[in-house]
Amino acid sequence: MEILDGKLVAQAVKEKLKKETEQRAKNGKKIPHLAAVLIGNNGASETYVASKVKSCSEIGFKSTLIRLSEDISESQLLNKLNELNEDFDVDGILVQLPLPKHISEEKIIETIFPSKDVDGFHPESVGRMVQGLPTFYPATPYGILLLLEHYKIETKGKHAVVIGRSNIVGRPISIMLSKNEYPGNCTVTVCHSHTPNLKEICLQADIIIAALGKPEFLKADMVKPGSVVVDVGITRIEDSTKKSGFTIKGDVDFQAVSPKCSYITPVPGGVGPMTIAALMMNTFKACLAKDLA
Ligand code: GUN
Repeated sequence: MEILDGKLVAQAVKEKLKKETEQRAKNGKKIPHLAAVLIGNNGASETYVASKVKSCSEIGFKSTLIRLSEDISESQLLNKLNELNEDFDVDGILVQLPLPKHISEEKIIETIFPSKDVDGFHPESVGRMVQGLPTFYPATPYGILLLLEHYKIETKGKHAVVIGRSNIVGRPISIMLSKNEYPGNCTVTVCHSHTPNLKEICLQADIIIAALGKPEFLKADMVKPGSVVVDVGITRIEDSTKKSGFTIKGDVDFQAVSPKCSYITPVPGGVGPMTIAALMMNTFKACLAKDLA
């Protein structure tokens, strides 16, 4: 069994971006700039956005963190996004999800210019992804592809089982793994809460992407020996023995499942850091596109 070390690979991706950004600065070219919008005080969202901003500064990107109160109105938020859309210096815009209930996620996502949609959530970005056209891939599935690629994991002709059908992970990774180029060419099965024979389907998988958000859901008796397991789960579980007051659990029972795998991602240190690396790649690409415009 080999660990798919997301921390290591993310570091390598970020190092490469740092060198390329330094080169751009030397050549007098524009430095990538990410604007991150954080609404309210959700602990997990705070942590993710802080990591994104920190990564920008490590690489040498500009970043702007826009903190807004939980009770901001939808129209105020839309105005802010329009401002960021019109700001030439801003290359990428991300609004951390989930949003407060009184704000329409759909409206927010659709307001961000597709050219700045580094989260890859805009319907235009998703449509282009489905059609195999150049676009921004959503960060988590993109990070998973970068990880599979780094470890040169064979995907052609493999059966990939995706558990979960969210817009952020399950649905897009299922499309990306079926595309007609590496890493892809998988036969993909998408499972969800209404799949009756999940265990039997998982047992047929060469690659399992667990993205349903249920701690330690995937057990050893659901996994074929030699399979590749990618754990997207990051649920916070209360834990008074920890300084933070919580521990992070993945969707995979790592201890029981890992001995059966050829490759597996740990939690933390697997998909999480890769998500951020992928977002940085998208931000860099958004900036690069302006050179050519
Ligand atoms: N919330 C959970 N994952 C994500 C993500 O990839 N992007 C944003 N903006 N919010 C999230």
